[in-house]
Amino acid sequence: MSRAVRYSEHGDVEVLRVVDVEDPQASTGQVRVAVRAAGLNPYDAKARRAVYGERKLPSGQGAEFAGVVDQVGGDVTTVSVGDEVLGWTSFAAQAEYAVVKADRVAPKPAELSWAVAGGIGLVGNTALRSTRSLNLGPADTVLVSAAAGGVGLLAVQFARATGATVVATASSANHEFLRSLGAIPVAYGDGQLERLRDASPRGYTAMLDNHGRESVLLGLELGIRPERINSIADSDELGIQNVGGGGKTAEELDWLAQSVASGELVFPILETFPLDRVQDAYRLLETGHGLGKIVLTIP
Ligand SMILES: NC(=O)c1ccc[n+]([C@@H]2O[C@H](COP(=O)([O-])OP(=O)(O)OC[C@H]3O[C@@H](n4cnc5c(N)ncnc54)[C@H](OP(=O)(O)O)[C@@H]3O)[C@@H](O)[C@H]2O)c1
Repeated sequence: MSRAVRYSEHGDVEVLRVVDVEDPQASTGQVRVAVRAAGLNPYDAKARRAVYGERKLPSGQGAEFAGVVDQVGGDVTTVSVGDEVLGWTSFAAQAEYAVVKADRVAPKPAELSWAVAGGIGLVGNTALRSTRSLNLGPADTVLVSAAAGGVGLLAVQFARATGATVVATASSANHEFLRSLGAIPVAYGDGQLERLRDASPRGYTAMLDNHGRESVLLGLELGIRPERINSIADSDELGIQNVGGGGKTAEELDWLAQSVASGELVFPILETFPLDRVQDAYRLLETGHGLGKIVLTIP
């Protein structure tokens, strides 16, 4: 038997349990990974609260992990027992063992901590796709909302890499960090519109929204054309784009991991929690604030 996060009813963090489950086994084409770290995402919390509708219960949780391969199924030639990897799954990463197809893992660079390796997959994929959707370049001034969150802080870096000027909204405690990434930080809240106008007197040409409707409306009020606004947290009702995560590949995961290992990409961890403290970890996530990623670890 091994331990895994489960919930048997929809609701607040209190429905989360760490329970004993049968050890999953790797079938043909699959690998089993002894998980050392698994990231948290707001998506998990929304699914648990049935924001996307009722799930089949009981449900596991967690979309991304890092760990050590401890079993390989038949026909697997690319991965061996003992390999350190990071990978992705669906509602199953927050557990002592995760079983996935062998092409859903990439090698973990030795320099990367378990927490970073286990937390970068989903937000990295989302930030890459959303940033690319706008075809940004040096002539752009792009507004990035919720810029200190898991997706936002990567979107800031990908946008800066295109040569665009980046104005980034966050709580003032996170401004120094955003400045270090080359962004112009602006506090959200009362008076935000004026502050954003002051931060870029020539205006804005694009927006990467990671917050939702309220921020998208600000972008429109600043004169950004709807088709140059991409939101991962609002619908397309306003004529904006909604390119979010999807189409993950092991090559992309490998590239993200290598980029952090080489120092090209910065990926801070807000806090790690042992698996047993999964409720506390989501309590922190659901405050909706904080710089960087929250990760569950299994020693
Ligand atoms: N569509 C997709 O594929 C996809 C994929 C991933 C995530 N998402 C969604 O994208 C959103 C962000 O995800 P995440 O993982 O980056 O979340 P996160 O790490 O929890 O970060 C949330 C950020 O929101 C900021 N924030 C809170 N109130 C704000 C306000 N009034 N205005 C502007 N920013 C505010 C916080 O900034 P401070 O800490 O500075 O206060 C915090 O850093 C979530 O809604 C998530 O569900 C969608």
